[in-house]
Amino acid sequence: MKKGGSVNATTWKQIGSNVKDVFRSPTFLVPVIISVILLVLFFLRRYIRWTVKCSSKNDMEGKTVVITGGNTGLGKATAYELAKRNARVIIACRNDIKGEAVARSIKIKTGNPFVYCSHLDLGNQRSIREFVQDFLSKESALHVLINNAAYLGPKATTDDGYERTFGVNYLGHFYLTYLLQDRLKKCGPSRIINIASDAIKKGKLDFDDLPLRSYDIYGAYARSKASLGMFTMEAHRRWFDDTVASYAVHPGAVCTDLLRSWPGIFGQVLRVASRILFKSPDDGCQTIVYCAVSNGLKKFSGRLFSECNVGSFPESLRDKEQCRKLWDLSLELCGLEKEPDLEDQEPELNTNHVTNQTTHTKRNSVLTTNSFSCLSQTDSSAFSVSLNDNTDNIGNPVATSSPKPVATKINKKRINRQTSLRVLNINFRSCKKTKWPQIENLITSSKPDIIIGNETWLNKDVKSSEIFPSSLFEDVFRRDRECKEGGGVLIAIKKGIICQQIYCSKNVELIAAQIDITDSKSLIIVSVYRPPS
Ligand SMILES: NC(=O)c1ccc[n+]([C@@H]2O[C@H](COP(=O)([O-])OP(=O)(O)OC[C@H]3O[C@@H](n4cnc5c(N)ncnc54)[C@H](OP(=O)(O)O)[C@@H]3O)[C@@H](O)[C@H]2O)c1
Repeated sequence: MKKGGSVNATTWKQIGSNVKDVFRSPTFLVPVIISVILLVLFFLRRYIRWTVKCSSKNDMEGKTVVITGGNTGLGKATAYELAKRNARVIIACRNDIKGEAVARSIKIKTGNPFVYCSHLDLGNQRSIREFVQDFLSKESALHVLINNAAYLGPKATTDDGYERTFGVNYLGHFYLTYLLQDRLKKCGPSRIINIASDAIKKGKLDFDDLPLRSYDIYGAYARSKASLGMFTMEAHRRWFDDTVASYAVHPGAVCTDLLRSWPGIFGQVLRVASRILFKSPDDGCQTIVYCAVSNGLKKFSGRLFSECNVGSFPESLRDKEQCRKLWDLSLELCGLEKEPDLEDQEPELNTNHVTNQTTHTKRNSVLTTNSFSCLSQTDSSAFSVSLNDNTDNIGNPVATSSPKPVATKINKKRINRQTSLRVLNINFRSCKKTKWPQIENLITSSKPDIIIGNETWLNKDVKSSEIFPSSLFEDVFRRDRECKEGGGVLIAIKKGIICQQIYCSKNVELIAAQIDITDSKSLIIVSVYRPPS
């Protein structure tokens, strides 16, 4: 028994050491390690590539979309998807040859002839202004603006001298959106979609270190995307009232050209890994398309989306004061005038007891009634007509506030102090379809420069261009009564006059616009309706 036992022990030892040898031998180890790596990669790839597809089948016919950086990657895939849904798509990119080729191929693939390319370099403010000028002169509408283009790479500066990642990814888009805001407001409900990234979680914005003295590629990228996130929240706060919704989208990790400028071995590794693991642009663009086309997203304006689902911005970005500070700084960096903050404006307007339509500046002070009236400096032969012989007295106008101008409008001429302005003041008592010919006759016969209207009864289903010929009145600022019928105010300003909406109240039916006058203070026009109750 003893002998047999010792033989057994030796055998087991031998077997043990043989097994160890097998495990240690490269012929065993190599395939095992490779299999484990492949298995990990397989699950990682599945995890990264997991995509929720946009379920909305909404058609975009009649909608105009601008996509920055639409010549490649996610922008190109988004342009294709939206063209497939019959949108009018403008690819805004800096490489005209590539852009034209992409526009052509999308036209052919989708059969949609309305796909165009327009030159835009977000690292050059003049190029942004020229793009906007060109766009506004050629296109009458803008429903969706997709701020997609991005730079990720070594330290560089924009043509205007700002740190390039911040300058292109954030500031360029801020400027572009700001200059297009009136068109977006006019075409509301409209949407701004800012393409963010998961990197926003790591993004820190130091207002005292804009040039980013200690530069690292990822840190700069994260900062630019964090700024874009803060812009989304602030744009929502400022513009949502005008039916412009703002969304940010994290598309996931997508295999595109984004990493092309990342230098060194690390860059090479990232590019190879992205080819193996990351999503295709067709999958990556799904949430962008979702935000562009889906119904019912209005209530999520100002939020961050990923995988066709609404999420939240990290707490670190949600400081209202910081968002406001970034907005003001951005205005300054883009050479735009600082805006009065919404919260500062509201009491100013209320305390002045605005009770009726009034146009007012120190220089051009005039009160209008419920019929034609002219400004103090204007043609005294202006005639008096009123719609439906409406003799309702809607009260005496008192005064308005004089908010500061907000932005320079382009492609139009300033009027000068000697210009006569005809003002038509209408109580519409509903702009129903049956009245449209009457309104048109009134406009044709009286040739007003400014129309101030109340009791418009308009809602979002009625475009301003259906009532006022867009060849005559390009800027129609409206504050429709929401939820129920009746009420509503508008200001329509003749094409070619530099003007902008400067205020739209949330609480009362009141809207204000400003006309710039050379060598003079601006003319502020306010239209307000106070319901009888
Ligand atoms: N890929 C991802 O994994 C990922 C993840 C999260 C977020 N994102 C975001 O998704 C968006 C699209 O990126 P992508 O992945 O599709 O990258 P991409 O293929 O590199 O596309 C970037 C686009 O931006 C354009 N661009 C760069 N600088 C510009 C400038 N100064 N002016 C105008 N256009 C400029 C590029 O034009 P050129 O061809 O002329 O350079 C290109 O069309 C970016 O905002 C990016 O941050 C991507």
